[in-house]
Amino acid sequence: MALFGSSTRNLPATSAVPRHVAIIMDGNGRWAKKRLLPRFAGHHRGVETVRATVKACLDRGIEYLTLFAFSSENWRRPEEEVSLLMQLFVRVLKDEVSKLHRNGVRLRVIGDLSRFEPELQRLIRVSEQRTAANDQLVLTIAANYGGRWDVVQAVKRLLRCEPDRNGEWTESDLTQHLAMSYAPEPDLFIRTGGEQRISNFLLWQLAYTELYFTDVLWPEFDTTAFDAALASYRQRERRFGRTSEQLLGNTPSPASPTGPRVDA
Ligand code: IPE
Ligand code: IPE
Ligand code: MG
Repeated sequence: MALFGSSTRNLPATSAVPRHVAIIMDGNGRWAKKRLLPRFAGHHRGVETVRATVKACLDRGIEYLTLFAFSSENWRRPEEEVSLLMQLFVRVLKDEVSKLHRNGVRLRVIGDLSRFEPELQRLIRVSEQRTAANDQLVLTIAANYGGRWDVVQAVKRLLRCEPDRNGEWTESDLTQHLAMSYAPEPDLFIRTGGEQRISNFLLWQLAYTELYFTDVLWPEFDTTAFDAALASYRQRERRFGRTSEQLLGNTPSPASPTGPRVDA
């Protein structure tokens, strides 16, 4: 049984505040370059934006925040930058987890963690265990994550768990094995830094997510910029394949098993 509904199989409930926000934190390098600083200074400064965004989510009652920190393609970057990013990840885990814990944040990390140093893998495990009972916000960090990797590993796990199905499986059988099966699909996707692409983030789960792109660079993405994204989300009409008239209740919705709640 799937924990959450699927946007393609049934009609998800929606509300004015997104339940799940997923962010591609982009533009650190350009932020640093503008200031004639090394790229790493941008990554370092970006951690402050992460802190502020977590707080903003707690204050606004957002239940799930998912941040793309390192893609499966980011290994293609210069060795020095990759190594500094890994060191930053270790330091942030060491420095920030106590505060996250105090604030009731549950930390989860998704991605192919096997490629990380053992010490980083251990820190991730310990941090996840320590915060496992928290329920104010689920903060997911996608690290060495790729949407295609996720679908392939889910198929592999499904075939391992149910080898006798002869291919007779459904969307929801598969989604249970995706790395983020514990969360509803994102309501709002934000990408900072001006690029308008998904860059192999949550390919499966973004099927009906509202997309928001901003030129603001991640280190400058403050609460005002975040609220602008939330305001844009509130204006969206989430139709999930139906017509506006159906949403307004003028035309019945035959395929509406649970009845949508659209109070945005
Ligand atoms: C995003 O910022 C952070 C990571 C990918 C780790 P970038 O480093 O991609 O910054 P730009 O896009 O070069 O400005
Ligand atoms: C996407 O940013 C990945 C992360 C933010 C971790 P990139 O800066 O790597 O994306 P591309 O390569 O420009 O698409
Ligand atoms: Mg980038």
